[in-house]
Amino acid sequence: MKTLIKLFAGLFILFLAQVTLGQNISGSAHDFSSETWNPSGEICIVCHTPHHADISVTDAPLWNHQLSTATYTVYSSSTLDATVGQPDGISKLCLSCHDGTVALDNFGGKTNGTTFISGDELLGTDLSDDHPISFVYDATLASTDGGLYDPTTTNSGLGGTIDADMLFGTKLECASCHDVHNGSGVAKLLVKSNAASALCLTCHNK
Ligand code: HEC
Ligand code: HEC
Ligand code: HEC
Ligand code: HEC
Repeated sequence: MKTLIKLFAGLFILFLAQVTLGQNISGSAHDFSSETWNPSGEICIVCHTPHHADISVTDAPLWNHQLSTATYTVYSSSTLDATVGQPDGISKLCLSCHDGTVALDNFGGKTNGTTFISGDELLGTDLSDDHPISFVYDATLASTDGGLYDPTTTNSGLGGTIDADMLFGTKLECASCHDVHNGSGVAKLLVKSNAASALCLTCHNK
């Protein structure tokens, strides 16, 4: 009986945690519906539009925010095995706000916005001090490096393999670690908790 009570108490706490965490974009750092620079009062419109979307970035989902034209300083180190080039794919979408060169209110065709990202959220165009992005992470890289799990066979802890759940056409991008819509409800919009470095240890065999 005691164990049963404990079990139910545990389930109830889990349920409460789910409710209070709020596993979606509403109320998250990416909910701009009550910002003065977004008079529409809508959430999705800052990033997406049902019509007249910008399809210049491969796989960009009905994109509505003005893209950045910046050239970036990318991460490099003597121990890096991956070939890291300019940011591409969906990382370009994140950088359209997070590199600080394009105004937040430049969406829906507007180009004269005046509100820019600031503080810790501003990554800038120098990405040499940030985790590398926009490179192929495959079985070959894993075996060359020796300190990485094979993404095609290793479980991500999110339901499938690292490759299926965290990579975008075999590439590691910002969204490998972050869920832009706060789908997991973890702080900093992470795809999974980084307690005891669980996120890092998903890929790094350390
Ligand atoms: C701050 C920008 C931003 C906001 C706001 C935003 N999205 Fe997204 N959305 C993205 C980015 C970036 C991607 C591509 C990255 C990804 O799929 O993880 C994406 C991908 C998507 C996709 C395709 C991939 C998937 O996850 O199914 C859908 C559908 C989508 N968004 C719907 C929405 C809806 C609906 C809203 C409003 C409730 C919304 N988004 C709000 C940035 C945003
Ligand atoms: C429309 C502009 C815009 C786009 C596009 C965008 N962001 Fe953001 N993001 C912001 C702003 C503004 C903030 C800071 C909000 C605040 O002050 O609370 C932010 C906050 C964050 C945070 C911090 C969350 C927290 O809870 O502290 C993370 C992480 C983040 N963004 C990642 C991303 C990633 C990854 C992408 C692409 C997949 C992306 N963002 C796309 C504007 C954007
Ligand atoms: C390898 C995983 C990983 C990748 C790739 C990654 N991030 Fe993060 N990011 C994190 C973690 C973990 C944190 C939380 C750090 C903390 O809590 O101190 C974070 C924090 C942030 C924050 C909040 C800043 C702060 O100091 O609170 C922003 C904004 C952000 N990331 C944006 C991005 C963008 C944009 C990209 C792509 C250019 C990106 N991230 C790529 C793991 C990653
Ligand atoms: C989705 C998989 C993934 C996640 C999650 C991830 N990494 Fe990485 N990380 C990689 C890959 C792949 C490389 C490229 C390694 C190489 O080519 O040498 C890399 C590179 C690095 C490097 C640079 C290595 C060098 O030789 O210069 C460091 C340091 C690092 N990651 C730390 C972290 C930390 C800390 C976290 C957690 C906050 C993290 N990573 C999360 C896959 C990941």
